[in-house]
Formats: sequence, structure tokens, C-alpha cells
Amino acid sequence: MSGGRVRLDGREVLRGVDLVVAPGDLLAVLGPNGAGKSTLVKALLGLLPLASGRTEIFGRAPARFRDWKRVGYVPQRLPAGGGVPATVREVVASGRVARQSRWRPSSAADRAAVERALEAVGLADRGRDSAHLLSGGQQRRVLIARALAGEPEALVMDEPTAGVDAASQSALAATLRDLAAANRTVVLVAHELGPLEPLINRTIVLAHGRVAQETGRGGPALEPTGSAA
Ligand SMILES: Nc1ncnc2c1ncn2[C@@H]1O[C@H](COP(=O)(O)OP(=O)(O)OP(=O)(O)O)[C@@H](O)[C@H]1O
Ligand SMILES: [Mg+2]
Repeated sequence: MSGGRVRLDGREVLRGVDLVVAPGDLLAVLGPNGAGKSTLVKALLGLLPLASGRTEIFGRAPARFRDWKRVGYVPQRLPAGGGVPATVREVVASGRVARQSRWRPSSAADRAAVERALEAVGLADRGRDSAHLLSGGQQRRVLIARALAGEPEALVMDEPTAGVDAASQSALAATLRDLAAANRTVVLVAHELGPLEPLINRTIVLAHGRVAQETGRGGPALEPTGSAA
């Protein structure tokens, strides 16, 4: 993203963000409530339009990007209520959809990836349960498993550890370690890094819609801009 600005309800919520995420980065996006963390990750994925600036996913503008199986996303929250009742396994299996087609329906590889993802978040024995009857923390883990099941190259997670118990946070840390070893890219939003902290190799701190601070990988492309504007 370069010079990324996002306006919501006429208010500038992201105010000129320059950010390059490189393969193998495990980037934490930190900052207080309302700093613009969720707005940034949604804009990076093209889920919110930029008022100005530009952003690319694997070298393409979001509107032109097609290869969504390369990207996984764990939203901070899902719209409440409604929805079609589904089992935990069904929700997680939906993370494989971008890899399937009319010509290539669900395969043994898909089923294996779903089981691995359930295992990774400690829900292997809950596959038949109704997803909407789980606790908030468990639903969060279902969303993480759904993203993992797609085996994306880049995984974007908005507060994956919020409301998640210590054991599950450690399980997520182990998963991130595996992803790092496979040179996958992770962008995660967090208030507290907890057990994820040693795995993170870059951080940016947002404040009032700007990058206020960063650590880790440097370089001109990552210099925060706009702070003097
Ligand atoms: N749909 C919207 N319309 C108007 N303003 C919004 C909208 N969504 C978010 N905002 C505002 O934009 C700012 C940034 O919101 P954002 O959700 O990106 O913050 P955040 O850093 O993710 O916060 P949190 O830690 O609470 O998740 C906040 O001031 C918020 O009130
Ligand atoms: Mg948020």
C-alpha cells in the first residue's frame, strides 16, 4: 500500500499509510482501539475502497486480483445473528472453496486440509457441532481454522487471539511457527501479542490512522509518511 487513505462517514480513518508486506513477514499491527487497524487490513484486501493512494495484492489491484486461494482472512467479527446453521466442519471446509471448481469438487486433499485445520485450533472433536452454538472464543478458532484450511500463502488475521484462552493462544503460536517455517506470510492485528510475541518479526503501531512506529524490517518503502502532513 502506498499513501493509503480511507474515509468512513466523511471522516479520514486511514490517513496516508505506506506498507509493504514481504513474503515470510510475520507482521503484527498494533495500536489502541479505533486506531484504524481493522480498516487497514480490510483496505489491504480490497474490502474497503481507498479514497486515495493505491494498494496491490501479489502485484495486482484488489479489483483485478483473482487468485483468492493465495489469501486467507480472519475477520475481527462476523455480522451477528442470521446465517445458515452449519457445523464446525462445514464452516472450516468453506475455506477450501477458492481451491475447488466445477471440474474439481471436494477431494481427499480438501478433507485432509480441513482436518489439519481443525486439529491446529484444537477443535478436531467438535467438527459435528453447530458453529453458532459455540462460545465466542471457539467461534474465533473456527474462523482461524477456516482460513488455515485454504492453505493460503498470505494469512491476514484481525485479532485472532481476542477472547481466546491461553491454551488456544499457544496452539496458534505453534501454527504460526509452522507457517513461518514454510515461508508463509502473516499479518495479524493484536492488542496483546502474548505467546505470539517471539514469532513476530515486524510490528507497526497505528495511531489515528497513521503508522506511528515500526520495528523490524526497515527500508525506504516502509518509511512512514504523512506524519508531517
Ligand atoms: N463503518 C464505519 N463508519 C464510520 N466510522 C467507522 C466505521 N468503521 C469504523 N469506523 C471508525 O474508524 C476508526 C477506526 O476503526 P477500526 O475498526 O479500523 O479501528 P481498530 O483499530 O480496528 O479498533 P479496535 O481495536 O477497536 O478493533 C474508528 O474511529 C471507528 O469508529
Ligand atoms: Mg479492529
